[in-house]
Amino acid sequence: MSALSIFVARGTANAIPIWFVTAATYAEVRGRLDAEARAFVDAAKFEPKAGRHLLLPGKAGLSGVLFGLEGADDTKDLFLPGRLAQSLPDGVYRFANEPHDGRLAALAIALGAYRFTRYRKADGSDIKLEVSQSLDRDDLRHIVEGVTLARNLINTPANDMGPADLEAASRELAARHKAEIRTTVGDDLLAQNFTLIHAVGRAAAAQAAPRLIDMVWGDPNHPRVTLVGKGVCFDTGGLDIKPDTGMLNMKKDMGGAATALALGHMIMARSLKLRLRVLIPAVENSIAGTSFHPRDIYTSRKGITVEIGNTDAEGRLILADALSLADDEKPELIADFATLTGAARVALGPDLPAFFTDDDVLADDLMARGLAENDPLWRLPLWRPYESMLESKVADINNVGGGQGGAITAALFMRRFVTVKSWLHFDLFAWSASAKPGRPEGGDCQAARALYALLADRYG
Ligand code: BES
Ligand code: MN
Ligand code: ZN
Repeated sequence: MSALSIFVARGTANAIPIWFVTAATYAEVRGRLDAEARAFVDAAKFEPKAGRHLLLPGKAGLSGVLFGLEGADDTKDLFLPGRLAQSLPDGVYRFANEPHDGRLAALAIALGAYRFTRYRKADGSDIKLEVSQSLDRDDLRHIVEGVTLARNLINTPANDMGPADLEAASRELAARHKAEIRTTVGDDLLAQNFTLIHAVGRAAAAQAAPRLIDMVWGDPNHPRVTLVGKGVCFDTGGLDIKPDTGMLNMKKDMGGAATALALGHMIMARSLKLRLRVLIPAVENSIAGTSFHPRDIYTSRKGITVEIGNTDAEGRLILADALSLADDEKPELIADFATLTGAARVALGPDLPAFFTDDDVLADDLMARGLAENDPLWRLPLWRPYESMLESKVADINNVGGGQGGAITAALFMRRFVTVKSWLHFDLFAWSASAKPGRPEGGDCQAARALYALLADRYG
């Protein structure tokens, strides 16, 4: 997590102006350019269409940039200016006029400049952006750092991001913020009753032993907020093995853990007035003679007996044990993040994470934050009648609910391990299958910025 930021204070250099234009404002903006630039945009036949840009020449190099926005009333993506991260050459830039949302535009450019450079130097330019005094530069930097951390963790393949590596990354974050951290590893999980985390992770090699990471930060007298992240460092499906296409991207199955750490960073960097706990069950869902089996029955930490209907529904199992621990101290809010079901993607597509809660006030607030932060979310119901789909003939509950409503039955399964009212469950994709403005192809951090905005408001 680099401390270097794309954002610089206004007035540090002769920053190159970026002019935002729409079909409606183009004539006026064109009139504000100097005569040479005006002649150039006319000769280049620039059209103020959404996403188009034009570099304007000047005596000392670049004199400015034009960028086309969507109309004010039909804006589909407030991150559109994030495209500039790909089109601008090295330099220091500033906004010459206001886009639809200046804060989101600055954020989009910073997030759009992300490259995964662990294994290969990235091409692309080095740009800086002067942001107006009215924006909180530190806060923007913390958000970008958090998202960058999540993306790096998700993009790192399983050979370098196993449970021990995820623990190391958590320890690094804890050290940076002076948080306490402890882990329960391997057979100690059994001694502490984390039966389900152990069952899912026990087939992995010794150096990738299953573990529960437990990080605590902040004044113990402040309201308690606990984040739980699914840390499946690779999901083969287990004995219910996935086909090649389904397995290909499963390095990202720790995307929930990455998201919890990213949000944790934003919260701690901002020193929000809350007592934070981050719980990450970290495992590999591997195949070996020691794998857990379909039809196994385990007594979970909470005491609920669970019949395994499918070893590929592993995320809800490890989360169940972690949620029961989170629930013990009755925090004000529990939020879990998980790349949990394909069904959530069928319902809402890759870019719109599903969330579940019984707290209607919290749900409405969160939904609004998602839209305001351009980190959109959509609520799905904890539809109680579907609980019957999870019935087992021999145990208290089965870990799968059948072919339909899979995101809902997964959420209902986990609800059995939580009693606090303000429980939020996020079913994420954690991935951009194709590059979009501010969202380069690869691992992505979904839902953290929306929830951070809500928490910053409540506990700032
Ligand atoms: N990690 C997967 C879910 C997933 C797959 C998320 C692809 C995003 C993209 C999860 O562990 C899983 O395998 N879920 C199964 C559950 C089923 C066996 C009930 C699924 O969704 O197919
Ligand atoms: Mn799975
Ligand atoms: Zn999984």
